[in-house]
Amino acid sequence: MAEQAGADCISIVVGWHESTRGALGRDVHDDQWLPLAENASRAVKIPVAFGPRFCDPVKAEEALARGAFGLWEVCRPFLADPELLHKVARDRLEEIRPCVGGLLCLSRMFRNLPYICAVNPRLGHEVEPEYELRPARIPKKVLVIGGGPGGLECAFIAAQRGHSVVLCEKSERLGGQLLPASREIGGGRIFVDLARYYETMLRKWNVEVRLGTEVTPQLCAQIAPDVSVVATGSEIEHFPIPGIHRNHVVIAHDILEEGAPCGDRVVVLGGERIGLVAAEYLASRGKQVTLVELGKRLGEDVIATFKWRHTAWVRELQIQALLNTRAKEITEEGVVVEEEGGAERLVPADTVILAIPRKARQQLLTDLEFVCDELYMIGDAVKPRSMHNAIREGYLIGIRI
Ligand SMILES: Cc1cc2nc3c(=O)[nH]c(=O)nc-3n(C[C@H](O)[C@H](O)[C@H](O)COP(=O)(O)OP(=O)(O)OC[C@H]3O[C@@H](n4cnc5c(N)ncnc54)[C@H](O)[C@@H]3O)c2cc1C
Ligand SMILES: Cc1cc2nc3c(=O)[nH]c(=O)nc-3n(C[C@H](O)[C@H](O)[C@H](O)COP(=O)(O)O)c2cc1C
Ligand code: SF4
Repeated sequence: MAEQAGADCISIVVGWHESTRGALGRDVHDDQWLPLAENASRAVKIPVAFGPRFCDPVKAEEALARGAFGLWEVCRPFLADPELLHKVARDRLEEIRPCVGGLLCLSRMFRNLPYICAVNPRLGHEVEPEYELRPARIPKKVLVIGGGPGGLECAFIAAQRGHSVVLCEKSERLGGQLLPASREIGGGRIFVDLARYYETMLRKWNVEVRLGTEVTPQLCAQIAPDVSVVATGSEIEHFPIPGIHRNHVVIAHDILEEGAPCGDRVVVLGGERIGLVAAEYLASRGKQVTLVELGKRLGEDVIATFKWRHTAWVRELQIQALLNTRAKEITEEGVVVEEEGGAERLVPADTVILAIPRKARQQLLTDLEFVCDELYMIGDAVKPRSMHNAIREGYLIGIRI
């Protein structure tokens, strides 16, 4: 048909993001849609252009070589890293910034805003001088405190400009909350790839990384930086209800990151992103999960174009969601909740997981005030938000110091 219409090429576009199953999110694995392109290529005599969620240039090269399609028509990997092709050509694949497939770019477009990218802070600002990366006028000693996405971005950008950068991370691994986030069922593993990309860039630009090193005012004085960047992130707080310190109460990060032990019946307190990731992760492993959310909706901190997938998972994994419901007390047997209208009941649980409230770790900003002259704070430490806020702020401080 295409030949009859005189076309030179057919472009394969798969579904639409809000179709019954997401076609473009990170849950779609690399070559999920490839058979469609292969079938089309067999059916027509003109080249087929293909690319949806087919991000890996090596796999794309292989597919092109065996004629699976004729043109790699890829979009978001170039938004995430406009230098992708150059890096491939120079065999620097590990320096490619991965597209995390969360569709922030599209969500902004629907609001009539210029599109931005979760991992590429320059997207949409390429021609603005204040986003430009220039060599530092005066090389300084910079201390970055915290190895989450904000600190990682800031550290390598500052080092790339010629500053001498030390990055301290109190845990034994870089990544911060990217590590628990990588437990998201579906495509969460992309966050590990992002952390790995940052490790490569820290090495490339000679950032001195100190793992297992908690920065204190004493340590900061010892390092004696010209500039300190507080990128200490956020954590879940114990909130004041009776029973909160019982042994079967666990913070969501400990389950997701450390693999803390968990019983078969689970109540997750908080139905925002972290609660959803924890609930879905555990339900997918056969746990019986109840989510307790004070508000009237789940996923209030998830962007609109990505919310529905959680709704689908909650349904498919048979997670019981109690909305407009307040946790009143944690007992040995479970959680006493007050439902809309005032009725109280016990939801049985072997393990209770805290996924709210998120609290910014800001103490160092005060503690370092008389230790370091130039002091900045970025990311969740300012206010618990999202990865893209942390990366953007890390970049902006990295290019300005
Ligand atoms: C389960 C889960 C799922 C998520 N999913 C998404 C998502 O899909 N999309 C999205 O955009 N965001 C998501 N987020 C949120 C996102 O991960 C955070 O907003 C982001 O990681 C914040 O980055 P940050 O660098 O500011 O802080 P963090 O990632 O919190 O990193 C701070 C780091 O500082 C270290 N630190 C703290 N104090 C010190 C000290 N004194 N000395 C040295 N080191 C210190 C900590 O150990 C930590 O590694 C998710 C978070 C979680 C937990
Ligand atoms: C920010 C953004 C804008 C887009 N705009 C259009 C468009 O105007 N017309 C169109 O046909 N597709 C558009 N697309 C879809 C892409 O062309 C492509 O089909 C889709 O992103 C899947 O490919 P990818 O996985 O390589 O991103 C857009 C995608 C994004 C992320
Ligand atoms: S905003 Fe997210 S989905 Fe869009 S290009 Fe950037 S990383 Fe990829």
